[in-house]
Amino acid sequence: MTDKSANKMWGGRFSMSPAEIMEEINASIGFDKVLAPQDIRGSKAHAAMLAEAGIITKTDAREIAKGLDQVLSEIESGSFNFSRALEDVHMNVESRLRDLIGPASGRLHTARSRNDQVATDFRLWVRDQIDGLDAALAGLQLELARKAEATASIVMPGFTHLQPAQPVTFGHHMLAYVEMIARDRGRLADARKRLNECPLGSAALAGTSFPIDRHMTAQALGFERPMANSLDGVSDRDFALETLAAATICAIHMSRLSEEIIIWMTPQFGFVKLSDKFSTGSSIMPQKRNPDAAELSRAKAGRIAGAFQSLAMVMKGLPLAYSKDMQEDKEVTFDALASLKLVIAAMSGMIGDLKPMPDAMRAAAGRGYSTATDLADWLVRELKMPFRDAHHVTGAIVKLAETKGCDLDALSLEEMQKVEPRITKAVFSVLSVENSVKSRTSYGGTAPQNVTKMARAWLKKLEKERGKV
Ligand code: ARG
Repeated sequence: MTDKSANKMWGGRFSMSPAEIMEEINASIGFDKVLAPQDIRGSKAHAAMLAEAGIITKTDAREIAKGLDQVLSEIESGSFNFSRALEDVHMNVESRLRDLIGPASGRLHTARSRNDQVATDFRLWVRDQIDGLDAALAGLQLELARKAEATASIVMPGFTHLQPAQPVTFGHHMLAYVEMIARDRGRLADARKRLNECPLGSAALAGTSFPIDRHMTAQALGFERPMANSLDGVSDRDFALETLAAATICAIHMSRLSEEIIIWMTPQFGFVKLSDKFSTGSSIMPQKRNPDAAELSRAKAGRIAGAFQSLAMVMKGLPLAYSKDMQEDKEVTFDALASLKLVIAAMSGMIGDLKPMPDAMRAAAGRGYSTATDLADWLVRELKMPFRDAHHVTGAIVKLAETKGCDLDALSLEEMQKVEPRITKAVFSVLSVENSVKSRTSYGGTAPQNVTKMARAWLKKLEKERGKV
């Protein structure tokens, strides 16, 4: 006789219920319940296919579908009672289905295993997340492009090594992130393309002897095609890894932008302001205005990269096909993709809220000899000097300014002529930061006219895309 407390789903040959600690380590219902909508969607497609293939009756399939709809509405309304003894979402749903419709429920699991079931549910869930992230990233691009258009001629210092390098425009800086995000979206779209194959019907690992129609279930669930190898179908999680890798790179971009906002917000820089909506205060220092949302967005990159690392380490060395190790794929992925979504939303809010401070940026752009390259280029253009010689002459003029403690455009013509006698007063036209940025008209360069053009092209593209959705 089977002990009544043995598992209803697989306890036929068991005579004892699991130890408390066994149940605790084994259960995934605490986190995989979020897969319930995907699980029910997959089960409905499976039941419809079983009926179509004549494996179960149409009446049973109808009962099953109706029952599953009822289960979903109970879950959505919060009245569903999840049980840890039933391990996971698949068995919780099926058990409730049995309460609701009786024996027909037992036919749903024909030609299927939890192995292909969970692989299908998880793919559907990751696919939904990718779609959500893509829309959120498009929204952020729009905020950045709007800000870029509005700040196309605001001059700021451009940095390399975080040392003043050459003046750029704030709009140009915003557009750099629009481009990075376009690639993030491309990576997510690539991951989506590769994950969009259906594992359902791989069964436990070897396929099934029932005459199932895997093309039918694949199509019903919006997949391009069924996966071609049943062992692969149940045992790989590369789709989650690839999505986490794309998410990690995106999170790194968000983290870099966060870091810049944090630097720009310091009184030493004072390049931007965030309103009260996106700042926090200190409980002891009344003067403080902290960019907490940017700091947390910077930190989440660590957490998201950690998720990739965590799943990669779970998967390495696992023999084909399914191992229970793979249950550990979910929490980190759920957490990472939810974190990224939050970061993107917070970043969209911050970018919309961000107020550039043109005077501070303009003043900083003028410091640090940031037009030295313009001077060298002038020597090349006007005096036909080889660039390396011009670099040397400019270096000597910068040194002179440094000794005098003044900016390049504060040197007199005579002083510059002591270094290079052929310099004329026309040189002053390139020493201003405004003229410097205006001259950078090469494709992809920072000239305000370029930035305006590029920002408008992005706005047009993004608004059109939004209209289509
Ligand atoms: N909860 C399991 C998971 O998330 C479902 C698959 C269980 N399969 C099995 N053969 N025990 O991976």
